[in-house]
Amino acid sequence: MSHAEDHEGTRRDFLYYATAGAGAVATGAAVWPLVNQMNPSADVQALSSIRVDISGVESGTQITVQWLGKPVFLRRRTEEEIAEAQGVEMSELIDPLARNFNLDASTDAEDANRALDESGEWLVMMGVCTHLGCVPLGDGAGDYGGWFCPCHGSHYDTSGRIRRGPAPENLHVPVAAFADETTIKLG
Ligand code: FES
Repeated sequence: MSHAEDHEGTRRDFLYYATAGAGAVATGAAVWPLVNQMNPSADVQALSSIRVDISGVESGTQITVQWLGKPVFLRRRTEEEIAEAQGVEMSELIDPLARNFNLDASTDAEDANRALDESGEWLVMMGVCTHLGCVPLGDGAGDYGGWFCPCHGSHYDTSGRIRRGPAPENLHVPVAAFADETTIKLG
């Protein structure tokens, strides 16, 4: 067996059991380390795809999981948050692009191009500020009711789009999909 095949054989999906407590992971303004000090080969390979159980996530809350060494926010938005996100004119946005890795890079930043499902209830984003990589605060933080990065004051709206501050891009939306009704697969 070649080395590559050997790697393939050990790769598998991990089931990440999200709990309410997991939401506490990203409440600080920790700077995400740029250098992963662990040997990345084994764990990055194994975690290239994870499944997140979202059955316990209440409307108006989010959980944070670790994926590929970075935090990912999974938010179950309220009707109000969705309506607010959908009501924003494109001309008001600093970054006009969706930054959604499921879609073409030129896709615009309409909320529908960032939400995971058609109803807009689920929003999945990398929890990494696009300025210098801090972990933004969630749960309605900032002047636009979405996320706020306290490192240098970047405000994101309820779609995770940058609205004020030094961050140049909307929060990135990773490759994600529903595996079933209560499971979101990342990667
Ligand atoms: S790292 Fe978020 S505003 Fe600078």
